[in-house]
Amino acid sequence: MSASPASARPDAALIADLEAAHYHPLWDRYKAITPIVPAAKDMPMHWRWRDFDPFAARAAVEVPIEDVERRAIIMVNPAFGGATQTTSNLLGAFTVLNPGDRAVPHRHTAAAIRFATRADGAATIVNGRRCAMKEGDLVLTPPMCWHGHINLGQERTAWFDAANMPLVCGLDASFFEPGSRSEAAFWEVDEGEERRWAGTGLAAAGAAQPAPVAGAHSPKFHYAGEATRAFLAGLPAAADGSKLARYVNPDNGGPVMPALDCYALRLGAGATTAARRSTWNTLCLVVSGSGRSVVGGKSIEWEQHDVFTIPHWTVATHMARGGDADLFLVTDRSVFELLGLARSEVVE
Ligand SMILES: [Fe+2]
Repeated sequence: MSASPASARPDAALIADLEAAHYHPLWDRYKAITPIVPAAKDMPMHWRWRDFDPFAARAAVEVPIEDVERRAIIMVNPAFGGATQTTSNLLGAFTVLNPGDRAVPHRHTAAAIRFATRADGAATIVNGRRCAMKEGDLVLTPPMCWHGHINLGQERTAWFDAANMPLVCGLDASFFEPGSRSEAAFWEVDEGEERRWAGTGLAAAGAAQPAPVAGAHSPKFHYAGEATRAFLAGLPAAADGSKLARYVNPDNGGPVMPALDCYALRLGAGATTAARRSTWNTLCLVVSGSGRSVVGGKSIEWEQHDVFTIPHWTVATHMARGGDADLFLVTDRSVFELLGLARSEVVE
């Protein structure tokens, strides 16, 4: 019998026998099971609109008509090993429609939003309500709400999409139901019930903001960009010159959906925001202006309609250049709040 290696621990034989019997000893595995702090797999990523635009033009020409309803191009971080994923729990994409294109209605358990960047003339229909997509408009497509898209304008349109498929698929809780391409009545609707909620939908964000309610999404699907810009103009700036507004459910003041939580951030020219990290993940779309963010030590110089990520527990600061800048933020913060895992801190 050979001698045991010098590194062998006295319980090595026990650990081997436990593993063979489908047990793991906690005393040997606790560092992997209970990390000291979160450690995002992904580094921040930045996708420039000027790099993306030629792909939008090509997709408009090269994608076959039967795939029009899926003509979204998803931003992928290679840190996820080839998975179709932008950051933990979230996808970000741009959808491209030609004049006259219709994206066939469907519904699913994943939560999604659209933010209109270059989408004038397009509309999203959500549960029988027509939601316009003027510049800066946010449209919700909450879980299991029927939705479809149409471009009635004369120009190619593109808008920003975000959704939580990585979270829902990680939980293996995805259900998807296709609708009918030929159902004319789906498209022949006006804004309907959406009128009830006009003029509502934003609140100053902060530590004391109302908590999410499990299962409850906003009854309001369309948040006009014009109203958002007016709300930000009237909001007092924080000490770091920034203004942060949360898109809210007008029924309860909480997030728009239990699993997606959206914000509008206005940056004052030349002021750098406090260095902050949070347990949730953030996709940032540049609505207007230009500037620089430093995320996890990486400097990101951004311009209008660029997209970049703030992975969870990664320190970020933002600064606008040459004038104010507006960012639209999509987060999974409400998920962390529902689970009691939301934590955020300023790093000196
Ligand atoms: Fe969808």
